[in-house]
Amino acid sequence: MQQPRKRCVMILLWAIIWVFLLMEDGANSDSELNLLNSICAQDNVTNFQDFSRNLNATFLKLREEIVSGNYFATADQAAGSSPTYSMVQCRKYLSPTDCLACFNAALTTIRNCSAAYGADVIYDGCLLRYDGNNFYTQSTGQGHTVICGDPTASNPTSFNASVGGLLNDLLMATPRTDGYFATSKKKVSGNITVYGVAQCIETISESGCRSCMSVVYSDIRQCPPTLDGRAMDVGCFLRYSESPFFADNQTTDIARFLENNSSSKKDALIGGLIGGIGFLLLVLAVFFWFGSSRRKKMAPRGDILEATELQGPVNYSYRDLNSATQNFSLENKLGAGGFGDVYKGVLKSGKVVAVKKLAIDQSLRAKADFESEVRIISNVHHRNLLRLLGCCSRGAELLLVYEFMPNGSLDKFLFGEKKGSLNWKQRFDIILGTARGLAYLHEEFHLCIIHRDIKPSNILLDHDFQPKIADFGLARLLPQDRSHLSTKFAGTLGYTAPEYAILGQLSEKVDAYSYGIVVLEIISGQKSSEAKSDSDEFLLKQGWGLYENNRHEELVDETLDRSEYHAEDVRKVIEIALLCTQASAASRPSMSEVVVLLRSKGSLNRRPTTKPIFVESDKKVRVGTSTSTGSSVSNATVSITEVSGR
Ligand SMILES: *[C@@H]1O[C@H](CO)[C@@H](O)[C@H](O)[C@H]1NC(C)=O
Ligand SMILES: *[C@@H]1O[C@H](CO)[C@@H](O)[C@H](O)[C@H]1NC(C)=O
Ligand SMILES: *[C@@H]1O[C@H](CO)[C@@H](O)[C@H](O)[C@H]1NC(C)=O
Ligand SMILES: *[C@@H]1O[C@H](CO)[C@@H](O)[C@H](O)[C@H]1NC(C)=O
Ligand SMILES: *[C@@H]1O[C@H](CO)[C@@H](O)[C@H](O)[C@H]1NC(C)=O
Ligand SMILES: *[C@@H]1O[C@H](CO)[C@@H](O)[C@H](O)[C@H]1NC(C)=O
Repeated sequence: MQQPRKRCVMILLWAIIWVFLLMEDGANSDSELNLLNSICAQDNVTNFQDFSRNLNATFLKLREEIVSGNYFATADQAAGSSPTYSMVQCRKYLSPTDCLACFNAALTTIRNCSAAYGADVIYDGCLLRYDGNNFYTQSTGQGHTVICGDPTASNPTSFNASVGGLLNDLLMATPRTDGYFATSKKKVSGNITVYGVAQCIETISESGCRSCMSVVYSDIRQCPPTLDGRAMDVGCFLRYSESPFFADNQTTDIARFLENNSSSKKDALIGGLIGGIGFLLLVLAVFFWFGSSRRKKMAPRGDILEATELQGPVNYSYRDLNSATQNFSLENKLGAGGFGDVYKGVLKSGKVVAVKKLAIDQSLRAKADFESEVRIISNVHHRNLLRLLGCCSRGAELLLVYEFMPNGSLDKFLFGEKKGSLNWKQRFDIILGTARGLAYLHEEFHLCIIHRDIKPSNILLDHDFQPKIADFGLARLLPQDRSHLSTKFAGTLGYTAPEYAILGQLSEKVDAYSYGIVVLEIISGQKSSEAKSDSDEFLLKQGWGLYENNRHEELVDETLDRSEYHAEDVRKVIEIALLCTQASAASRPSMSEVVVLLRSKGSLNRRPTTKPIFVESDKKVRVGTSTSTGSSVSNATVSITEVSGR
């Protein structure tokens, strides 16, 4: 009698356990197939056959990699006229089978983008992406996304702080891990635990991972107190949830990535200060610096790390920068930009930076404004925009610390000592990258930032000759009032749109104009403000004349190898430059349109129809006054010259 009953109980127990396990299991892998984001690029492929064949080949390779147990793979195929780049990544807590299932689901979804030139699909468990351009090293970009859970769910007060601490740990640790992947969990209270995962694309650099993480981190911080949240950018993914989505034995031991950082002086400093009186001072400083904008309450540790490492610019000490640049010595001077001199500096950590000594009249702007502007600029992350790392102010001196670009500025390659050394592909990449950077500033960053001083000396080149725009946001430090003639305008003659130079009318199209001039310079290797010796025609006038007579190829720099470029590509780029320099600002394309036009294959269906207009440093209309702002406009007089033509 007793035996069967006991067995019954046992069976029942087993059944319950099984059901429980199955439910757990099922819920887990299903939720990993939760589609978070799916984007098809707007521009269509022109050579669809080639592209589709290449794309299929890359997908086949990616599948092979996944089947053989890899969690990350890239594949590219460049047969025919349409190169294709693809990438897949699974979260490493998935089983190989679940990873494959996620890849298959992503593949079905991405096929929906049929004719698009690029696409991006993200699931909880994996991502799949392809593009006609190589994006493998891109870490941040347009369209970073955040998805927060149900806002009505309630949590104990300690939840916010625990999520903050957990995410902060992930963000610090992930760039330091092998394979840029980390999971972690934190007990909130009693029976509640919060789980988190962070992952970067494996082909980006550690600093790329770090900057991507800081973007998604600041996005996801909007989510608590919701029970879960996810944030993603081109190069990384971050997620937290109150329900477990990975097994206990898949938790990364991130403690060692958090502790083992004595090499980093800054962290060591923070460590040393904790517990001491310095801690209090630092908290005060942080509050002083960030107090006005941050109202959120968090654990003090989170605040400090966040302030110094992520959100805000690093506040460098003047002493450190002074010794990094050898007392701002002449040998360390890299150049004199529109807003002040720039010096090369080597920080104690060995990191090479560029330090800009701002020459902006203190009386023009309150210091508080400087700090808020600097904070805004330091939050701009795009691969074609120069990163601001931090700042320093001592008395009247304001210093900005930027990442260092080994190849210097574009003007050296166009007109200076390295004239003629860029090939067509490099020039085209610079033209495209600069357009992308501007499109981001104008349309994708949450504030519209108009650069106002686009010119080759403000376009820097990284080790791979990819462009990075410098000095953006600085014009915002100049006085607001810019109504007409009397105001000092930021900008450089020859590159400045006439309506801005003469009337002070400012819009994004001011940058489009300068961009158009720079493009002509890149194509021709000729300065816009210098007439060619055998004629007295300035570059824009000359370009329009040649274009009208269908002789635009004569504009191309003679040092370029004729076999490197197609005549129709040259024509297209020149047409885009002329579109950008149209007299009426309204008829110039936006920078995102320029990106689409540049990436489109074949010829444009939009043509410049009216003659461009050019400001020459001649003597007729007087504009612009002194340089107390440090802008590059000197006591200048300009005249408007209509370019010949219709
Ligand atoms: C791209 O192709 C799709 C489908 O063929 C079409 O609906 C869409 O309008 C096209 N987009 C552009 C920019 O041509
Ligand atoms: C690529 O694969 C898709 C889906 O399997 C198929 O419809 C298409 O015809 C293939 N394209 C080429 C060029 O083979
Ligand atoms: C593909 O697009 C169609 C029509 O827009 C839609 O009904 C379908 O659900 C989509 N498939 C996937 C896998 O997203
Ligand atoms: C968590 O933080 C949000 C804002 O970040 C706040 O609105 C909410 O009240 C906080 N919840 C708790 C329980 O502290
Ligand atoms: C956690 O414990 C509290 C009471 O201590 C209870 O109300 C709540 O339902 C429990 N939550 C879970 C998920 O078990
Ligand atoms: C983790 O635990 C699960 C059972 O919960 C087990 O099947 C799996 O093999 C474990 N993985 C590792 C890496 O120990």
